[in-house]
Amino acid sequence: MKFSPFKRKKQDAPQTDGAYEIPSHIALIMDGNGRWAARRGLPRSAGHAAGAETFRRVATYCKEIGVRYLTVYAFSTENWKRPPDEVGAIMELLERYLKEATDKMERDRVKLKFFGDLSALSDGLRALIHDTEEISARFDGVQVNICVNYGGRDEIIRAARLWRERADDGAELTEESFGGFMYSAGIPDPDLVIRPGGEMRVSNFLLWQAAYSELYFTDTLWPDFTPRELDKAIKAYNSRERRFGGVL
Ligand code: IPE
Ligand code: IPE
Ligand code: MG
Repeated sequence: MKFSPFKRKKQDAPQTDGAYEIPSHIALIMDGNGRWAARRGLPRSAGHAAGAETFRRVATYCKEIGVRYLTVYAFSTENWKRPPDEVGAIMELLERYLKEATDKMERDRVKLKFFGDLSALSDGLRALIHDTEEISARFDGVQVNICVNYGGRDEIIRAARLWRERADDGAELTEESFGGFMYSAGIPDPDLVIRPGGEMRVSNFLLWQAAYSELYFTDTLWPDFTPRELDKAIKAYNSRERRFGGVL
């Protein structure tokens, strides 16, 4: 059967295009920007700019096909090791995206959330993030979680600290109660984690939440990633047998 792009649907999960189930929650490691630029003789920042465009396109597509949650890895706790001008370029792109997103939010009905330790960001960027989250909180379209200064280990340590500070006396420590202190509290775990860029590792992404996610790797560099590539990943996801440790 020829694989066709998914049609827009507005109904309860799981969404399908007739043949394929659309994962409720897709997580994306947006990797390969630097190599994309290097292959073109461009500075790495040009790769990040191209990657930001790809993010816009893919997020729009996810919304169209009925993905409910999209979590993207934009900047890790380890990415501060990069040269300051590259870090600055990434932060500027983020700022530009946020300014533009707040203008279009009403129309797009995208709910934006940020996962990560935002205390390390500039005051201006933090204020923008705060405003964006507040404005978009009421929207019910796709929820896009942008991971900035995010690390899976950092998130787990933070949750442990919060547990110590805030959990009620005698509260039982369970996966569920502890999960309530993660950035992802209240959001289902990702069904599918996609990593473009050719590397087969998780690089400190969603260590807690991806316990049973299906993983999909592709050599395509993130700026070259298209909605058709996402279709391919969803098709592959549909061929997986999710057992969660049980038997079918
Ligand atoms: C991903 O692309 C973006 C960030 C990590 C911020 P890279 O910049 O890691 O691109 P490569 O892996 O060097 O090609
Ligand atoms: C992972 O990519 C982080 C993001 C995409 C934001 P990296 O390029 O930082 O990962 P490594 O260094 O190859 O593991
Ligand atoms: Mg990389």
